[in-house]
Parts: sequence; C-alpha cells; structure tokens
Amino acid sequence: MLHSQARRIRWCELFDAQHGFMVESLGADAEGGGMPPKQVITQVREAIRDVFNRELGRAPPVDTDEPKVVVVAHLAKGRCMLSLDTSGKSLHKRGYREPGHPAPLKETLAAAVLVLAGYDGTQAFMDPMCGSGTLAIEAAMMAVHKAPRIHRKKGEFHFEWLKGFDRQLWRATQDRVRAEKLEAPPAPIVASDIDASYVAMAQKSALKARVEKFMTFDTRRFQDSEPPAESGILVTNLPYGDRIGSREGDVRSSTRKWATR
Ligand SMILES: C[S@@+](CC[C@H](N)C(=O)[O-])C[C@H]1O[C@@H](n2cnc3c(N)ncnc32)[C@H](O)[C@@H]1O
Repeated sequence: MLHSQARRIRWCELFDAQHGFMVESLGADAEGGGMPPKQVITQVREAIRDVFNRELGRAPPVDTDEPKVVVVAHLAKGRCMLSLDTSGKSLHKRGYREPGHPAPLKETLAAAVLVLAGYDGTQAFMDPMCGSGTLAIEAAMMAVHKAPRIHRKKGEFHFEWLKGFDRQLWRATQDRVRAEKLEAPPAPIVASDIDASYVAMAQKSALKARVEKFMTFDTRRFQDSEPPAESGILVTNLPYGDRIGSREGDVRSSTRKWATR
C-alpha cells in the first residue's frame, strides 16, 4: 500500500533526477502493523525511483551522506505522511555553540522564551546566570536584526534544491535582510556567570555568532550583579541543581531577595 500510494506522487515535478536524495522515517506505528523504519524507507525510496524511471527513464541517486533532497515519511496511526524537508540541518543548531556547558538551552527555545518574555530587541538586557550564553546571544541577534543562519552557504537550505525554487527572489530576500542589520544594539546586552570558564565559553560562542562586540561579559555572582540601565529586561535560566550540582544552593533564597530590588 505504502509503495503504491507513494508511486502516485509526481516526484519529477518536485525535484530533478540529478540531485541525490534520501528518505527518513519518523514515528512508530504499532497500530499500522509496526512496519519497521527500514522497510518504510525502502518502500518510499523505491516508489520515488520507480516514478522517475517511468517518467524520465532515469532515477535520482540515493545519497545518505549529503543529500540535496530529503523526503520524510512520518508514520502514525496507520497513516503515512510524506513531506519534503525544506530546512536542511535543524534550525536550532545555529552553528555558534561552543560545546562543554552541562545544561545549555536550545537556541530556538531561548529565542522563543525571549519573545514570550516581551523582549523586542530595544530594551537593555541581562542574563546574570548566562552559562554558555544562549539567551544573551539570541537577544543580541534580535537587537541588531541579525537573521539566524543568514551565513548559511549556498545550497544548505534544502528548499534550494526543489523545483520552483527562485534563486533571484532568495538572493533579494537575503540582501534585504542583511541590509536591515543595525550597526549596534539600541541598548546594552550583558551576560555574566559565576563560573569564568562558562563566561569564556559564552564569549567564544558570541564571537562565532558575530555578535560579541555588541555584548558585555562578566564573571560574577548574580547576587552582585548590577542592571546595566534604569529599566530593561532580565531573562535567565536558573540552575535547578539537577544537571549542574548543588554549588548554587543559595540561588533560591537569593533570587527571591534580588527580584524585589
Ligand atoms: C542552567 S545554567 C544556564 C544555561 C544557559 N542558559 C545556557 O544556554 O548555556 C545556569 C547557570 O547558572 C550559573 N550560576 C549558578 N549559580 C550562580 C550564581 N550564584 N551567580 C551567577 N551564576 C550562577 C551556573 O554556573 C550555570 O552556568
């Protein structure tokens, strides 16, 4: 069934036969008879190759190392949804992260938390327990209107390999976004942590994200931190003691005192 249904899709209208492709399988499907992922991949892959062979007399090569086109087969409750991955490497992997912090936030989660907290890039910002600096780096990127992954190389977004992709429009969009970037943030952005090695990590990551010059870094206890402006926004990811031990045992009582200042 999966094979015959996948053969009904006009794959040749979606991408060219010279581009290497792969199929990924997501989801478990106990109700659907528990088809193993490998079998899902084979059925969909061969269906795609069949369609190309039937229409054009040649099939695209399978490339699992650096595929240009990725077809995702998502199996749930006896149904399989096929989709094309348009992003390529996960967008939460912004490419600036220095490894080594025991409890880093995902970049996309940090950006979402900032938006939910009401940060719009114009307020003074501080994260006094910055760890590897994710929140402050995302804040700096928002403050100077730097689009995430704007430095991605040509072809790294998978949509660039799909039929109907308009390179001129994409270039114009990238140029417009680059032109919107500000020379400096409207207000200070401060990141600090009790641990000097984490501050160094945050600084390195900020350098990779090309926002280091827009930020101030400091090694200090948050209890001793001073806000960088009269008003602004503080967003931090507290140590709960689960992943990074109990050396911050006094955090709960201190934050309570500090929040009232
Ligand atoms: C959950 S982590 C933050 C992770 C960070 N959001 C990231 O993406 O890497 C909490 C951080 O609080 C720091 N910390 C703990 N107690 C502190 C204190 N009293 N003052 C300042 N920083 C503290 C720890 O060193 C740790 O890096």
